[in-house]
Amino acid sequence: MAKKGARKRVAILISGRGSNMGALIKAAKLKNYPAQIVLVISNEPNAEGLKRARKAGVPTAIVDHRPHGKNREAFERALDTELARHKIELICLAGFMRLLTPWFVGRWNGSMLNIHPALLPAFKGLDTHARALAAGVKIHGATVHFVVPEMDSGPIIAQAALGVASNDTPVSLAARVIKLEHRIYALALKLVVQGRVRIVGGRCMIGKSAPVKSALVVPKDR
Ligand code: GAR
Repeated sequence: MAKKGARKRVAILISGRGSNMGALIKAAKLKNYPAQIVLVISNEPNAEGLKRARKAGVPTAIVDHRPHGKNREAFERALDTELARHKIELICLAGFMRLLTPWFVGRWNGSMLNIHPALLPAFKGLDTHARALAAGVKIHGATVHFVVPEMDSGPIIAQAALGVASNDTPVSLAARVIKLEHRIYALALKLVVQGRVRIVGGRCMIGKSAPVKSALVVPKDR
């Protein structure tokens, strides 16, 4: 059991580069941030993010999914053992590219967050930026949400949006969206650990969040 008033013990699960992980580690180092990143787990032994985490002084673990073959639950039990060993209270998925079973999701119900590079519920799944461009959307962005068994679904905690330019490419869009991701992940984690997010009827209610008056209109009428 964690001590009352202690900063929540968070694990970040990654599969790759780990830039969102880096943003969370950085935010958690700030004075008064209510969570601490105590573990980074990767299912990919060579994930770039592992080096980054070690450099930042965060303990890492590798839980490779391959030895478990198609047995997802066996892989997740190995994950869970590692999480328990480090007394983890909350999980942040940050570019963790494994589908999770209802068993694991149920175990961490309300205590597992994910970041997705699109304004959910639009563009679930992969290649979000290319698909957003193909659909011709004028506003795109990123979402942090609680994890539920259905992929890229679950109560939305925070979103950030930006305008799509006519000459945007998936690469240029990804470069702008990732900056938004880094901002909203740290914000969403903070709100959750501060107990300011209530899930009511599948929606997140955030205490004292005032309506945002400014509108993002795209394109600009010049
Ligand atoms: C991020 O853009 C994240 O939103 C996305 O993977 C990238 C990981 O980058 N996640 C998903 O698509 C999950 N559906 P990072 O390793 O640099 O944080």
